[in-house]
Amino acid sequence: MIFEMQSPAELLFGRKYRFVVPEKLIPGNVFILCGSHSKDQIEKELLPVLDGRKVEIFPSFPAEAPLAETDAALAAARSIGARNIIGWGGGSCIDGAKTIAALLDTSLSVTDVFRDDITFGSRSCFFAALPTTAGTAAEMTPNAVLCDHETNIKKSLRGPSMFADLAIIDPELLESAPDHVLYSSGFDALTQGIESTISARSDAMTSMLSIEGAFLTWQGLQQAASGCRASHVFDMLGRGCMLSGAAFVRSGLGAAHGIGHPISGLKGVPHGVCCAILLVEVLKWNLPCSIDPMKQLALRFNLETPEKLIGAIADLRDKCGLPSDFKSWNLQKKDFPFIVKNCRSGSMKSNPRPFSDDEVCKLLEKII
Ligand SMILES: [Fe+2]
Repeated sequence: MIFEMQSPAELLFGRKYRFVVPEKLIPGNVFILCGSHSKDQIEKELLPVLDGRKVEIFPSFPAEAPLAETDAALAAARSIGARNIIGWGGGSCIDGAKTIAALLDTSLSVTDVFRDDITFGSRSCFFAALPTTAGTAAEMTPNAVLCDHETNIKKSLRGPSMFADLAIIDPELLESAPDHVLYSSGFDALTQGIESTISARSDAMTSMLSIEGAFLTWQGLQQAASGCRASHVFDMLGRGCMLSGAAFVRSGLGAAHGIGHPISGLKGVPHGVCCAILLVEVLKWNLPCSIDPMKQLALRFNLETPEKLIGAIADLRDKCGLPSDFKSWNLQKKDFPFIVKNCRSGSMKSNPRPFSDDEVCKLLEKII
């Protein structure tokens, strides 16, 4: 048997862990890519303790990591000779920062690497990831999902140099997300935990992590959707996302992610919302080939059968105010060829039941 498991070099989970960032940095200047909600907090908490270093904050990085903005941020990081790259925000910020760190010492642009599938090697700068959403688990993974707005193609850049040197999941950072972000991110994490569990590439170790990860996210979302915003809810959501992330790095994901990426790229549907819309129908399709892991999940969720689990996921999606179809984005049959052509990623390969192109279209017809 051959076994490999990879993760960030250092993983810290806990309240206030964000304050250890300064002592972990290597010598040299600091570039911080963040979302609009995080800038004030970074300026107040982190900047005063980075005396003596040049620091550049690139704020308000957009969702879904667009190529043009990622290239602009890369140029800004190079212009200050940054040796430390910090991604502090949602999955888009972390994927953007991860890409910048990986390409910082090269002469490559993000756009060229993305469009021409250029490979890249090791890096010498330091990269830290601090998520403010419990969703993509980008802090755990060696890939960055970017979007080319000229072609509407959304795909992953991947490489060993993309694992973070330091991933800090501080549940206090999760508390400021607005409800719609909390719920859509949570459904991304829930989808990751479930797709990892039923993946064709799952194994004993990934199942242990992903079942517990899915369950913690499930519990956290149930309590959040009932109005609870106590600290333990964010602890559960943070832990759930982390465990599922540790699992799917190895197991891969499934068709909700595979089919969701081109829809998100084409129509601008937030990734977590795509997951929420697709998950129920994908699980129904997969059921004949995923009975055993679905039974394990149902058991952990304290539900009697896989069918009841699927029904409960639909109920939770509705309770979170997430849509069950793509009507608001005007997804139409004429969009299907683009989706079919661009959905054949690694996620589709690890889906437990194969899809023909026609079967992808039949599934989409149920949710347009
Ligand atoms: Fe995801």
